[in-house]
Amino acid sequence: MLLATKTRLVEAAPGAAQAAAQCLGRGGLVAFPTETVYGLGADATNGQAVARLYEAKGRPAFNPLIAHVPDIAVARDCAVFNADAETLAAAFWPGPLTLVLPRKPDCKVSELATAGLDTIAVRVPDHAMAHAILRAFGKPVVAPSANVSGHVSPTTAAHVLDDLDGRIDMIVDGGPTPVGIESTVVACIDQPTLLRPGGLSRAQIAAMVGRDLSDAPAGAEDNPIAPGMLTSHYAPRTRLRLDATSVEPGEVLLAFGTPLPGAATVLNLSEQGNLAEAAANLFGHLRRLDGLRAPQIAVMRIPHQGLGEAINDRLRRAAAPK
Ligand code: TXA
Ligand code: MG
Repeated sequence: MLLATKTRLVEAAPGAAQAAAQCLGRGGLVAFPTETVYGLGADATNGQAVARLYEAKGRPAFNPLIAHVPDIAVARDCAVFNADAETLAAAFWPGPLTLVLPRKPDCKVSELATAGLDTIAVRVPDHAMAHAILRAFGKPVVAPSANVSGHVSPTTAAHVLDDLDGRIDMIVDGGPTPVGIESTVVACIDQPTLLRPGGLSRAQIAAMVGRDLSDAPAGAEDNPIAPGMLTSHYAPRTRLRLDATSVEPGEVLLAFGTPLPGAATVLNLSEQGNLAEAAANLFGHLRRLDGLRAPQIAVMRIPHQGLGEAINDRLRRAAAPK
């Protein structure tokens, strides 16, 4: 069991980055905003801090973490970049892209953080607060989404508090996260392979590397080379019914575009049918609808292009039987 900890909530004001870095340096757990979702940070080189992080999240220890770094130079200390990786990092960092690359033998990141794999996931987040913390700390910070494992990812500091109050040391409140959905995870080891759709679309990545992305091999969900692919990740408690074309009695509605009639409660991902707005609203709306304890959430169809692929991926997981 975790010892109860007092969780300090601080505003993203000058001085917050320094306080966060000091806390990380003591082996503390600090939740902070990135452009995608809130991350729960720990010193990537401190195995005990990483162990505490897994414990605070209740996360299966085989699920490896992303090392967050301030720039590509620091990423190069940890990982081997092939030509595709160089191209993607130059095009999209800082930004919602995580690269899975061969781990360098002298990489200082704890083996626990990479779950004993010979690869490592690295990313440079595009958020002023995250960047200030990474600069102030000066070492890679591993940061999974700052939720209890299996819950919906947090896009506000209040979401983080809901899940982790008393289990972590500090939360830096930087307001709602702009992208709202996690980073796209791409392995650049042999062919560029999409391991997790996310805030950067498959098409944008394919255009940069000049060819289509491979998909993660079948069975990856049970044999986690990217265990974020566990089918029932991102799960609210309430059952979801996807691709709804009408509302059934008792259901609440997660709408996209013009809402279907008949639901007592409707939350709209985007009235205009804008996929970026829908991604930013997705996890917050799911949490709110889940909190109503309705018998079921009906979800309208989301087009599968661009960011729709990542939104549909999260919805499919949220709807998977637990
Ligand atoms: O947007 C994001 O990526 C957020 C923010 C906080 O940066 N972080 C995040 O972390 O979503 P997490 O731990 O929830 O998801 C990390 C994903 C998982 O799918 C994990 O399996 C995959 O990255 N991953 C990490 N290391 C890997 C590796 N060496 N090989 C394959 N997949 C890896
Ligand atoms: Mg997560």
